[in-house]
Order: sequence, then structure tokens, then C-alpha cells
Amino acid sequence: MSAPVITFRSVTKNYTLYHELRGGIKNFLFRLPKAIKQIRDSSYCVLKDISFEVGSGETLGIIGRNGAGKSTLLGLMAGILRPSAGEVEVNGRITPLLELGGGFHPDLTGIDNIMLNGVLLGLSRKAVTRKLSEIIKFADIGDYIGQPIRTYSSGMVARLGFSVAAHLDPEIILADELLAVGDADFNKKCLDKMSDFKRSGVTIVFISHSMESIRKICDRVIWIEGHKIKMAGDAGAVTGAYKNSRPAI
Ligand SMILES: Nc1ncnc2c1ncn2[C@@H]1O[C@H](COP(=O)(O)OP(=O)(O)OP(=O)(O)O)[C@@H](O)[C@H]1O
Ligand SMILES: [Mg+2]
Repeated sequence: MSAPVITFRSVTKNYTLYHELRGGIKNFLFRLPKAIKQIRDSSYCVLKDISFEVGSGETLGIIGRNGAGKSTLLGLMAGILRPSAGEVEVNGRITPLLELGGGFHPDLTGIDNIMLNGVLLGLSRKAVTRKLSEIIKFADIGDYIGQPIRTYSSGMVARLGFSVAAHLDPEIILADELLAVGDADFNKKCLDKMSDFKRSGVTIVFISHSMESIRKICDRVIWIEGHKIKMAGDAGAVTGAYKNSRPAI
């Protein structure tokens, strides 16, 4: 494998669970040491002692059931979450597609948001202006491009979000459920674009519940279950084992 751009070393992630103050604040204060211990003990371990690497230009798929910890893993890569133990190292510019359109301002128009996002990603206004027509064409949302984002449907926000990210020279793409809200045509366009990125050597980490898309895009797959990597390896083998592990519906 080529030089790793993402390295996880014995990474553990716990979430603290929220508590209601049963018995009220007075009762809580009276039994303070016990209450503090209770809160400290009530964290939930999502990922435990996970180690792996993603090589430069590799396309890695992450699969697993709802709540397995896939989005948590991507959040750690994006630097949005910190590990509770262990180390996450990333060498390269990350373009997260975690919540598509999450970086948009609802009161600005599509065009203004494209400019804003481009500049925030470190490009000059001139460079973004040069790509503007390409971004608008790919998003393909008609006259709405001149309307405030709050008037968009969720699929339209996703279209614009993907189009912006895809045209601003990504090095490492983190895609979480990219195909969840798009229609069939747009999903095909997304998958084609991801294949282009793959060919041009962009590193991709791709989460999906669609084993077909995972096999189309990814060289290697990690299956997360029970806080651990249950299986890692060739996309066909891992998705096959995952499918066989579930009861047919
Ligand atoms: N901020 C948080 N605080 C507490 N628990 C959390 C938090 N975020 C996620 N969790 C819990 O961590 C676990 C893993 O969540 P995560 O979103 O990573 O799962 P996922 O594999 O992406 O699931 P899905 O397929 O449904 O998207 C879940 O049990 C979830 O409830
Ligand atoms: Mg998720």
C-alpha cells in the first residue's frame, strides 16, 4: 500500500450519556460524590482500540449496521470529534461530505454560498468564479440557484453541496451516506464523479448501506461491528460476508 494519508492508532471513542437530574438539583448536590461517579461511569463506548491505515489514492468503504460507529469514525477523520484514547493522524486536505450542504448559509443564495464555501476552503474569489458555471451545471437545480438555500428541498441542498465539494480540488473525500437523498439520476452522477476522483488518485472514504455502490467505488472495505473492526479486506469478500451475516428479509 502507498504512504498512509490517514492513520488510526488504537483509537477508542466514548460518548458521555446525558442524565436527567432525578430527585432534583438539591438531592443531586447532597449526594454529590456518588452522582459524579454515576455520570463518569455512564459513557458509551462506540469504538474500541481500532487501528488501520488509508493509503494515498485508496478508496476505502466503511459498512456496518445503524449505530455501529461509521459516522463517528468519519467524524474522527475530519477532526470534528476527538478520540477518547489513541491517535488519529491525517496528512492531506480533507473535504468532508458528512452532512451535505451543512456548511451553507440558509439566507444566502446558491451562488453566494458557492462563493462563500470556495473562499472558506482556501480558494481565491477568482478561482471560484472560474469554476462557478461548472458547479451550477453539475448541481442542475435550475433557477433556484439564485434563491436562498432555505427554499431548497433536501435533495437540492445535497446536489449543490456535492457539486461544490467535487469541483474544488479535493485531496481526501469523506463521504457519509452520499446517496441517501439524491434521486436516481443524481446518484448516478455522484457515483460517476467518485469514479473520476478514484482514477485521478483522490483518496476516498465512503460510507454506504448500499453494498452495490460500495463495490462499485471501493477497493477495500472495513466492517464495523461490536465496537471493533469485524472484517477488513477486499470489497467483494467483506460485503459478501456482511450480507450473509444478516437474515434475509
Ligand atoms: N453525540 C453523541 N452522544 C452520545 N451518543 C452518540 C453521539 N453520537 C453518536 N452516538 C451513538 O454512537 C453510536 C454510533 O453512532 P454513529 O452515528 O457513528 O453510527 P453509524 O454507524 O453512523 O449509524 P447509521 O448507519 O445509522 O448512520 C450510536 O449508538 C449513537 O447513538
Ligand atoms: Mg451514520
